Amino acid sequence: MSLAEAIPEIPNIIVPRTAGVIALDPPPAGAEAARITARIKALLRERDAVLVAHYYVDEALQRIAEETGGTVSDSLDMARFGHEHPARTIVVAGVRFMGETAKILNPEKRVLMPSLDAECSLDLECPAERFIPFCDAHPDRTVVVYSNTSAAVKARADYVVTSSIAVKLVAHLHRQGKKIIWAPDKHLGAYVQEQTGADMLMWNGACVVHDEFRAQALELLKTQHPTAAVLVHPESPAAVIALADAVGSTTQLIEAARTLPQRELIVATDNRIFHKMRAAAPGKTLIEAPTGGHGATCRSCAHCPWMAMNSLRALLQVLETGEREIHVDETIRARAQLATQRMLDFAHDLKREVMGHGDA
Ligand code: 13P
Ligand code: SF4
Repeated sequence: MSLAEAIPEIPNIIVPRTAGVIALDPPPAGAEAARITARIKALLRERDAVLVAHYYVDEALQRIAEETGGTVSDSLDMARFGHEHPARTIVVAGVRFMGETAKILNPEKRVLMPSLDAECSLDLECPAERFIPFCDAHPDRTVVVYSNTSAAVKARADYVVTSSIAVKLVAHLHRQGKKIIWAPDKHLGAYVQEQTGADMLMWNGACVVHDEFRAQALELLKTQHPTAAVLVHPESPAAVIALADAVGSTTQLIEAARTLPQRELIVATDNRIFHKMRAAAPGKTLIEAPTGGHGATCRSCAHCPWMAMNSLRALLQVLETGEREIHVDETIRARAQLATQRMLDFAHDLKREVMGHGDA
């Protein structure tokens, strides 16, 4: 399936390859939304299930996760939370690689997702059949892959990273004199390379959402909001990152929104993050960074079309039926677990260092 074919047509949003709004199947509202929400909460209890959600999914799902003892977080913390939580079933509201990561780390648990079609352009652009021979052709290099990849790609990696620890982990490997293969996000890779000076051979993937942010239009917006701080996810192009006051994972951007002194914040990441960002930085004005450029004939909407597949109705259905379970071939899973566990271990050690003692 080509990337264009794989991008779903989602109700009520503008997807990157179209110029219009697709209005189909409106989300439940009012009494119906309340009824579905109550049923989901009851089923989570009955099924010994915990909801692990990403910041980019519908606000209604984020609220349910928060109100039922689950979590809303970035990909690293989603992995960590699901791994440490005692529930027998993890319901991952996010995209497929997040569900697979949960399964890789927790083979004994059942991992369900509201939609198994919720892909990620980075994952789709890095198929294992092409990635494995690429790595084999460079046996002298340490393979570091972004967590936005399939289980089969993780199984070929030495390390998995997320945006929250990519710079620190690559800097660590660079200090050990390691040369690196980096995949799949070219923008995050370029940022990591610039920050660390590491020797990195890059895969050529990009995120369909963040790749759309435009530096020129952002500069223009900054002239209209001269006191605003700019927060950028590192999956964005280098010219956009160059204009940032804070660069980081989704959790790190929310923390920057909270701590930066500026009252206006221009945010270059998926706009569903505004739900938690507003709560973390009450009273501050959040402004979407521009996509598509001025005068572009096709504008994107800064919302991931695959994250948008996580609807209330889909969540209810998966809990009622137990369908849409993530399965990963055991040989691949066991290999992928090594590189994924290294990420958690590295993150754990970092946290201990930051806290300045050995028992954090
Ligand atoms: P975070 O790990 O920063 O949440 O990023 C995940 C992602 O897919 C961003 O597009
Ligand atoms: Fe993948 Fe981009 Fe969607 Fe994140 S926002 S899941 S990187 S396509």
